[in-house]
Parts: sequence; C-alpha cells; structure tokens
Amino acid sequence: MRPTIEASPLAHSMPRLQSTLLDSPGAPVSPTGPSQAAAMSRAHTVPSVLFVDQSGQLGGAEFALLQLAGHCTERSEVMLLSDGPFRTRLEALGARVQVMSDASVSGIERQASWSKCLRVIPGILRQVRAIAERARAFDVLFLNTQKALVLGALGKPLHRKPVIWYQHDILTREHFGRVQLAIVKWLVRLAVDQVVVNSQASARSLSALTGIAADTVPVIYNGIDAAAFNRIDGSDTGALRRRLGLPEQAWIAGLFGRLAPWKGQHVALEALARLPGVHLVLVGAPLFGEDAYAERLHAQAQALGVADRVHFAGFQDDVPAWMKAMDVILHTSTEPEPFGRVIVEGMAAARPVIAAAAGGVTEIVRHARNGWLVKPGDSAALAEAIGTLRADPALAQRLADQAVMDARSEFSVETYLQRMTQAIKEAAR
Ligand code: UDP
Ligand code: GLC
Repeated sequence: MRPTIEASPLAHSMPRLQSTLLDSPGAPVSPTGPSQAAAMSRAHTVPSVLFVDQSGQLGGAEFALLQLAGHCTERSEVMLLSDGPFRTRLEALGARVQVMSDASVSGIERQASWSKCLRVIPGILRQVRAIAERARAFDVLFLNTQKALVLGALGKPLHRKPVIWYQHDILTREHFGRVQLAIVKWLVRLAVDQVVVNSQASARSLSALTGIAADTVPVIYNGIDAAAFNRIDGSDTGALRRRLGLPEQAWIAGLFGRLAPWKGQHVALEALARLPGVHLVLVGAPLFGEDAYAERLHAQAQALGVADRVHFAGFQDDVPAWMKAMDVILHTSTEPEPFGRVIVEGMAAARPVIAAAAGGVTEIVRHARNGWLVKPGDSAALAEAIGTLRADPALAQRLADQAVMDARSEFSVETYLQRMTQAIKEAAR
C-alpha cells in the first residue's frame, strides 16, 4: 500500500521566502494575504512546530536543532526516531521530547537497495502514521534529517500540515545511494513546502537533483555560540592542557568530529608522519556505527610509528576548552563538507584553522585571510600547511584574529535563529 502524495506549492513559496530572508535579513515580513492587518498579526504569532530528527546522537544537524528547539520550547515538541544523549540535551533546555524508534527503520542505511527498503515497509508505515498523528496538533512540521524527511513527507496526505525541511547534506552519489536520492527527489518535489539549506553547496546539489533553481533556495548557515568560547580563558594554554590531560609543551593540532571515513582522520595521521614532534588530538567518537574505522585509525597510528603523538580523546562535551588548548585546528573531510560547524567553532576559538577546500567550506574560509585551505585528501599538502603555520606564528595569529571576527559576524546564533523562525513563519502561512 502506497500513500498518495499531494502536490506542493514549493516552486511558489521559495522566491517569497528568499525575498524576505536573503535580500534583507531582519526586515519585517511583507504581507501578501487578503488583509494586511490579518497578515501582520499572523506574522507576529509564533507558529507551533513539531520538529522531527532521526538521531539520538549529537551530530552537527542535531546541534543546529538543539539551538532552534531550545529557542521554541513554549509551543513546540521534538520527535526523535532514536533515543540517545540528544534527548537529554533537549530536555535540559526545557524542550518537550518524544522518542519513537522502530528498529527496522533505524537500521536502513544511506546506501540501502530497493529490496531492503521494501522489507521495512511495515515499520515505515507505522512511523509515517505516528508522525502524521502527532503533526496534526501543530502548525508546521519541521524535518531535520533525511529519514525524518521521508517519514514526515510521506504522511502529508494524513496530516496536511506545511512541511519545512532543513537540508544538512550534499545530495550526491558520493554521500548517498541511488534509491535514497530518488526518494528525496520526489518527496521534495511533491510533499515539501519549504526547503532551507545549510550552505550554497548543499543548495547546488538540491538543484542538480530536483531541478529547483539553487538561487531560490534560502541558505541559512548554522550559528555558533561565541559566548561559549569567550567563557574559556585560552591565554594560559598550559593550565588548560593540564586540566584536559594533554602534553603542556607540545605543538598540538586538533581534529574535531565523529570518527568516520569521509571525515578523513586517516589523512591527518598520514600528515602527522611527515611532521616530527607535532602532536595530534582526535576529539570525537564513531557515532553512526563506524567502529571498524576507529579501530583502523588506532592500527594506522601504530603502523606509521606516531601512536605516542596521537591522543584519542573520544567524544567531549566541552569543545570550546578543547579547541582553545590547540595550536591549530584541522578539518580533513575527503568528500565535500556540506557546512562544517567544527570549522566555525575553531574560528570562534581564535585558533588558526586548516580546512579541506570543498563543499560549504569555501563559503566559510577565505584562504590566507581567515584560515588556510588545502586540497581534500592530500596529506602532503596538509602537512605542508601545518608546517607553514607552525613556522610562522605571526601569520597563524593574523588568521585567527580575522577568523574570530568572521565567526561572530557571519555565523551568529542570533542571525541563525532569526532567519530560521522567519522561515518557519513563512512556511506556516
Ligand atoms: N562535537 C562535540 N564533541 C566531540 C566532537 C564533535 O560536541 O567530541 C560537535 C562539534 O563541536 C560540532 C558537531 O559535533 O558542533 C559536528 O558538527 P559538524 O557540522 O562539524 O559535522 P557533522 O558531524 O554534522 O557532519
Ligand atoms: C551535517 C553536515 C555538516 C553540517 C551539519 C550542520 O551533519 O555533515 O557539514 O555542518 O549538518 O548543518
């Protein structure tokens, strides 16, 4: 049994949103309804939102939702399709959270075949119905991940609520299977009212997949909380390192993010082998079943003879403190990074950042101005870049000084929340 899907006004709603969000951020909504007064009053009423996210783990998409849901606790609720530390973090901010997991659906991977998808249809239908039932009590359904998109959008004929999707991914074959891309393409065309994306790179991939013009899709960058970084005193690096159990005198590069092959921690290990005396701290854990990769990294460090200079810190909550303990922050993704919160965080920590130049990264980092760009997957180039910044502390400081200013002005939480709530209001009309 396949639910029928009704056509959506996506093509019409996108330019309208763009004109209020992109052209003049912060500008009042221009009313388009029959009565200006009624439209104005609707614009000032915050719609109630059901947020849906597939993960209980703390990835970048979840941190983005944490800020938004934490800002909208009064009239919203978060539905998670798996339990985990994300739920605790949401609840600590006062968000109402409901966990609705289904083992068969949670097990579908990004590269799943049609036959695998067909086998889990009963589980999918259960979740589609449960989301639709809950969504009826809210003004807007906000889908934050791809499984949430599929399950929430498929239920559109049941809930008939405006659907907004925050696209955090680059929709290409490098990241996803054919089946998943085909499903996303048709759901976006038929059942999503509003897509917002985390970077122009993500928008371009949406455009290539669906034919929607990239410049009509609102880009809403993640916001990074500068205050969380200001609270940490980074002037006494020795004290900070003692507290974190890191070598006080070493020159240290830090790489933050979940351990996963495309995040490229192996590239950083290869670079380290070319840099005698430099230490590398890997902060993060395998969040989505990449334990075998984590083991391979340990083995690689041994094989390269650098194990005594590599520190596997695991997942850490206090990222600002860990970042301020570093001499340089690395980003090493081998596939185009859709956005890359860790890059902006490194900048907010006033540390020089070396990043892999692909995807949304080039919208954040300007080479030799507020950071340093290298070719993705090129460990020799990465080693050279680390060597350059190590040898020239004045250059590293200049980059870091500019980076802090750019992180604050271009990626503030205030702007992120203002634009996101505006997008939700627009979708609710
Ligand atoms: N992070 C964290 N603890 C860790 C490692 C990472 O809190 O030990 C956070 C990091 O600060 C960032 C997020 O996880 O906010 C990762 O987001 P990003 O957009 O960089 O990558 P994603 O994993 O979403 O692809
Ligand atoms: C995704 C992307 C990451 C991005 C994050 C927040 O997890 O992989 O690049 O920063 O979402 O939008």
